[in-house]
Amino acid sequence: MITNTRIGVLGGGQLGKMLAQAGSRWNLNLWLTDKDFDFPAAAVTNKFIQGDFTSHDLVYQLGHHVDIITIEIENVNTDALIKLEKEGKEIYPQPGVIQTIKDKGLQKQFYRDHAIPTSAFQLVVNASEVRKGLASGSIKLPFVQKSRTEGYDGRGVQVMHSEADLEQLFNRPSVIEELISIKKEIAVLVARNPAGQIVTYPAVEMAFHPTANLVEQLISPARIDPGIEQQAETMAKKIIQDFDMVGLLAIEFFLTQEDQLLVNEVAPRPHNSGHHTIEGNITSQYEQLLRAILDLPLGDTSIRSPAVMINLLGEPGHQGEAHYQGLDKVLAMKDVHVHIYGKKETKPFRKMGHVTILDKDIEVAIAKAKEVARTLKVVS
Ligand SMILES: Nc1ncnc2c1ncn2[C@@H]1O[C@H](COP(=O)(O)OP(=O)(O)OP(=O)(O)O)[C@@H](O)[C@H]1O
Ligand SMILES: [Mg+2]
Repeated sequence: MITNTRIGVLGGGQLGKMLAQAGSRWNLNLWLTDKDFDFPAAAVTNKFIQGDFTSHDLVYQLGHHVDIITIEIENVNTDALIKLEKEGKEIYPQPGVIQTIKDKGLQKQFYRDHAIPTSAFQLVVNASEVRKGLASGSIKLPFVQKSRTEGYDGRGVQVMHSEADLEQLFNRPSVIEELISIKKEIAVLVARNPAGQIVTYPAVEMAFHPTANLVEQLISPARIDPGIEQQAETMAKKIIQDFDMVGLLAIEFFLTQEDQLLVNEVAPRPHNSGHHTIEGNITSQYEQLLRAILDLPLGDTSIRSPAVMINLLGEPGHQGEAHYQGLDKVLAMKDVHVHIYGKKETKPFRKMGHVTILDKDIEVAIAKAKEVARTLKVVS
């Protein structure tokens, strides 16, 4: 009985919350973890183990409490997961996959080793190695520097355009990447179960916030050539197979000005680029992850309706207890679906929620999304 299987989730943020919401429909036995009690997923579950998912103890303890472990964040203690895997615990995605993906350097090497198209790169240990590379000509401006670990939402990523920018160099192990001239950024979700069944979701288009370096608007389906769409889905299937991974993998691609697809990065878990699947597709990314790890038949990924998703970010200049200004007006709009994560405190650009807007005409949905963004503000 799947309802008896105890599923442990490392993390209890918004992705954990939406995973718990999906699991509750089938009355699944899902256990979340987080550092403190007022975590976003607390609103939908009382099955909770308090602790730090980067600590060996918490992860190992969770392992002895549940039958299957999954994650909603990559930055977890993989040593404990590897130990549990050796003891026979089912862990999806597999710890080795998490270990490769949570280090952007190992991730890039993986693409190179598996002939997966990605931007040219080299690895450095600190800023002085970058300066030496510039002096010898092995590194050239402009380039992108990415911290190998612990960067997210663009925070460990910076573009170096000129000599003057070099003062900002991160002095830590990094990936130095060629700066790509991007026409569009797209993402494809792919899922695989232990039986080897694989499904992909139609590609989505990501439009970035000009300063916060966060996805501002996500458009489903992506407005791209069907041939490119096909290529992206084929690459997604190859990548999840190359990782020999079970679970859900989100793949971010750059479509270059020359119409070439390059893999930017992947995340082995539910992803910001899949929020729209809750209302916009037959099977949500959250239900799909549960199907995959429980070795159930994977669900239909088809689009129910074109959709636009916007992140609800903390308003610049506001910090403190969160208030949702304009919520009543937005709730009066047709086919507008608001998700509030329940983080008590708002900060500039913090992800506080998201809104999915459906319309059979994607241009109408885009216009409505702009109105939602103008109307709904997270303030203190
Ligand atoms: N090589 C590159 N050339 C041009 N732009 C790039 C390059 N690498 C990254 N970017 C830009 O920076 C953004 C953030 O990079 P990346 O996805 O690697 O970082 P991240 O911190 O993991 O982001 P997130 O958590 O938001 O997915 C990309 O979506 C893209 O817009
Ligand atoms: Mg990214």
